[in-house]
Amino acid sequence: MSLITDFTRMWLTRSTKPFTFTNEYDDFLHYENCENLGLYVHIPFCKSICNFCPYCKEIYTEEKCNKYIDYLLKEIHKVGSQYNEKKIVTSLYFGGGTPALAIDRIKEIVDTLKEYFTITEGIGLELHPDNVTIPVLNKLKEAGVTKLSIGIQSFQDKYRNILGRKTADEEKIFAALTEVSFETVSMDFIFALPQQTFDDLRKDIDTAFSNGANHVAIYPFIDFTFTSSTVKAMNKKDKRKLLDEITEYCISKGYDRSSIWTFASEKQAEYSSMTRDNFLGFGCSATTLLKDQFKINTFSVDEYCKRIDSDKLATSLTIRFTERQRMIYYLFWTAYSTKVSEKDFEVFFGRKLKKMYGMEIAVAKLLGFITEKDGIYSMTLKGAFYYHYYENFYTLSYIDKMWGIMRKQAFPEKIEL
Ligand SMILES: C[S@@+](CC[C@H](N)C(=O)[O-])C[C@H]1O[C@@H](n2cnc3c(N)ncnc32)[C@H](O)[C@@H]1O
Ligand code: SF4
Repeated sequence: MSLITDFTRMWLTRSTKPFTFTNEYDDFLHYENCENLGLYVHIPFCKSICNFCPYCKEIYTEEKCNKYIDYLLKEIHKVGSQYNEKKIVTSLYFGGGTPALAIDRIKEIVDTLKEYFTITEGIGLELHPDNVTIPVLNKLKEAGVTKLSIGIQSFQDKYRNILGRKTADEEKIFAALTEVSFETVSMDFIFALPQQTFDDLRKDIDTAFSNGANHVAIYPFIDFTFTSSTVKAMNKKDKRKLLDEITEYCISKGYDRSSIWTFASEKQAEYSSMTRDNFLGFGCSATTLLKDQFKINTFSVDEYCKRIDSDKLATSLTIRFTERQRMIYYLFWTAYSTKVSEKDFEVFFGRKLKKMYGMEIAVAKLLGFITEKDGIYSMTLKGAFYYHYYENFYTLSYIDKMWGIMRKQAFPEKIEL
């Protein structure tokens, strides 16, 4: 598996140099000239732990969570106060874990960020189904949250059982969503579970769109090596059939494919913390992507608090990109939106996309993966499947390895991918 990713990396970066992450880091982050900058805040606590989940999280206690947020605010002040001017950012996303466990402090976090940043495209937050109640939604609205992403996973008990998730009180969730409205209500589903059929998925998507969602995310199940899940991912052929069927169904209903795995029933509905050119991440495991570097904070809540307490950033690993590495990173995540613009690439890098990757573009066109119109490259259904397939390799070779190490070591010396 890693042969595929190694070969692709060497070919696309025109170098044998691996992606090298080391524990040195900058205490001062050069985000002052970054366009299309997003913000991300990680809240690493859950009431119970799902055995399939790879994210950085631990069991919630009120005391631990409050202490963590005190340090999170310190980190925001430290990074935000680097510059005198308020910086314009597109979006702010809260992820986890289960951010709503800190419901009484979300506004404080938003207000602290607003001392340094002007947010132009709204605020998103991930919710566990248990959090979807009228009082919680009202508090989120007061804090300025405009987009919700609800981790439904499945409306059907047979798949909830496979994932070890309990039955959700759907009537209560739908009633709360009717009572308190948001610009985007996204529901997350996991697909490619054992024996899952197109009909099962279609029913879930129909239920979502007829009960308050205007956006759905359908994530392929990923069997991370370090989780204790015993669920095996579906084979490639069945997965492709399922993905194609569900994509064709959503397109036939007029839903917009806003990214590889997401469909929206309304134009303004969008939820994506991934497709920013640059972002600043705050909290445990949060990542920061700038023009020349990518960095990731420690996964340990205790070590995070200690670092911030000593007035240092909690960065665990940093990679300083070569130009080609940064281009690959840019193209990979921009392609996630199913479209890449020649003009945007040129603005970002000051280089012509065709000059840098003319041959790859020609091959991708020849293979029927992309089409080109007016300088915009759009992924075909086939291209989207292979992107998705490759992304799976990438996740298992890169993310699985890195997160597997970072869960055990707060500050590893070096990771080469
Ligand atoms: C942080 S959780 C969402 C919020 C909340 N903690 C919850 O579980 O409802 C983010 C999403 O990642 C997805 N996810 C988690 N583990 C996954 C896995 N092994 N494969 C695919 N998707 C996964 C789930 O769809 C989940 O809703
Ligand atoms: S899936 Fe959600 S609730 Fe479950 S452990 Fe992961 S972050 Fe927590």
